[in-house]
Amino acid sequence: MGSEPDAQRLRTALRDLVALSTVPAAWVGREPPAIAAGLADVLVNSLHLDFAFVRLCDPNGGTAVEIARGSAWHEFPEWLQSYLSVNGRLSRREIVRDIDSGAQQCRGIVIPVGVNADGGLVAAACDRADFPTEIDQLLLSVAANHAATAFRTARGEKAIRQSEQQLRKARDELETKVAERTAELQRSEAYLTEAQRLSHTGSWACVPAIGKHTYWSEEIFRITGFDPAGGPPRFEEFERRIHPDDRVRIREHFTTAIREKVDFDHSYRIVHPGGEIREIQAIGHPVFGPTGDVVEFVGTLMDVTERRRAEEERQALAHSNRITTMGQLTASIAHEVNQPIAAVVTNAQAALRWLNMQPPDPEEVRQALDRIVNQGRRAGDVISRMRALVRKAPPRKDQLDINEVIREVIALTRSELHRTGTLLQTQLAHGLPLVPGDRVQLQQVMLNLILNAVEAMSGSDEGSRELLISAEADGANGVRIAVRDWGPGLEPESLDRLFDAFYTTKPDGMGMGLSICRSIIEAHGGRVWATTNVPQGAAFQFTLPHQGQKAS
Ligand SMILES: Nc1ncnc2c1ncn2[C@@H]1O[C@H](COP(=O)(O)OP(=O)(O)OP(=O)(O)O)[C@@H](O)[C@H]1O
Ligand SMILES: [Mg+2]
Repeated sequence: MGSEPDAQRLRTALRDLVALSTVPAAWVGREPPAIAAGLADVLVNSLHLDFAFVRLCDPNGGTAVEIARGSAWHEFPEWLQSYLSVNGRLSRREIVRDIDSGAQQCRGIVIPVGVNADGGLVAAACDRADFPTEIDQLLLSVAANHAATAFRTARGEKAIRQSEQQLRKARDELETKVAERTAELQRSEAYLTEAQRLSHTGSWACVPAIGKHTYWSEEIFRITGFDPAGGPPRFEEFERRIHPDDRVRIREHFTTAIREKVDFDHSYRIVHPGGEIREIQAIGHPVFGPTGDVVEFVGTLMDVTERRRAEEERQALAHSNRITTMGQLTASIAHEVNQPIAAVVTNAQAALRWLNMQPPDPEEVRQALDRIVNQGRRAGDVISRMRALVRKAPPRKDQLDINEVIREVIALTRSELHRTGTLLQTQLAHGLPLVPGDRVQLQQVMLNLILNAVEAMSGSDEGSRELLISAEADGANGVRIAVRDWGPGLEPESLDRLFDAFYTTKPDGMGMGLSICRSIIEAHGGRVWATTNVPQGAAFQFTLPHQGQKAS
């Protein structure tokens, strides 16, 4: 053996080795199939092989990639299959002599990558007689290991790229969601601000322990006249803006609510720096910490100045409507009072006569005096009912027997009905629950409806002037009162406008009666409506809610 050919072989081997060692750099960032194909090409071209097969397995269980170059060993797949069916696995390199490649004699080698070919395998075939030399085997192993490493790296890089992509996608989605949510929040905040402005209601939060308001909505600054630039004021500063007459009371309410950890709802006045006075309604609710302590109070502040003013105007209007209505009834009421007074006089004269008899008859005198007392009471009752209707008094909420309310109104209008030749019928159901409400206001509704009916029928024949007043249960939670007449009825086109203020068809009418009825009924939580009465006339009905309380 000469040393010259050996040296030559070694030089070639080294060159091939160097060539192989540069290949992984070219594989960086490439996809696994490209790496397998690259390796197969290097084997066939650089090592001058007739056949190369590369299988690279994914250590994470992904699909393996396989590439074959050259056709010298086309039965290789069958060979591998039969080998594996006998041996179970490829745990060491196998040299296959005399593979049947047709014309030439060829020899092949199969090298596992990793333990039991976990990383894959490399197979090669060549018609060189000495193939595979030790150097061939060495070079093939190096190439196979390089490829396995590159393949693993590529898989890793791919996984990193994928998770990078997923992260980027998630971040983009998150950004979009945040943007959408922000826009949504800005929108609802704008709606809220607008709603607060329209309803003159602001929201606040405060921490009593440090005597500070921690949040004030824009509307609160507007209502209280503080400058938003300065932020919510401290308690003392805020207190100075409360009307001096309300200050002590409000401080007491607030301290009690804090001490007793309860809600509060109070009204007071705020005096703006310019002297303007606003009426405020404040509602607060304690927020508890994990230990049960009050950490803050949250609530609303409502400017009710306009509402109060409107309510006062409504009351003034209702009052003047009552006065006008009573004015219409003056003659009848006078008659209603005159009757008992006349009876008093008659009975007093009779008593005198019994007294002057010889001997006087004390029993007859006593009976006459009893009648005087009764008639006197009757007159007194009419007058006190009338006074109640005419008096200007704030609305009350009593538990009312609605039938009694109706009967009292009937008593006031009896003479009027009689005078106009109106026949009154009543159908008042027994045992109706008590209705919470204001007696005078509900009587005013009845008065207006009765007078409208009487006025409507004033043109009809006297014989057909009938009025039916009924009261009955309306479901489980209400009562329904109806006033029906046998007058000309309602024009269909006027139905929508009947309850409008100033709608009237009467020459001297104000058109306020029904509009006041509606505002009173609605303030009581009820509903009023008009329909045609069958067979003729108009029917006005209203409902009033109750809590099922029975008269005792
Ligand atoms: N029972 C009824 N039958 C027919 N039309 C009616 C009846 N009640 C009311 N109306 C119609 O509804 C209109 C409005 O009634 P409303 O009581 O509000 O005002 P008014 O009676 O005209 O005036 P006032 O302010 O003096 O009560 C009446 O002008 C009348 O045209
Ligand atoms: Mg009227």
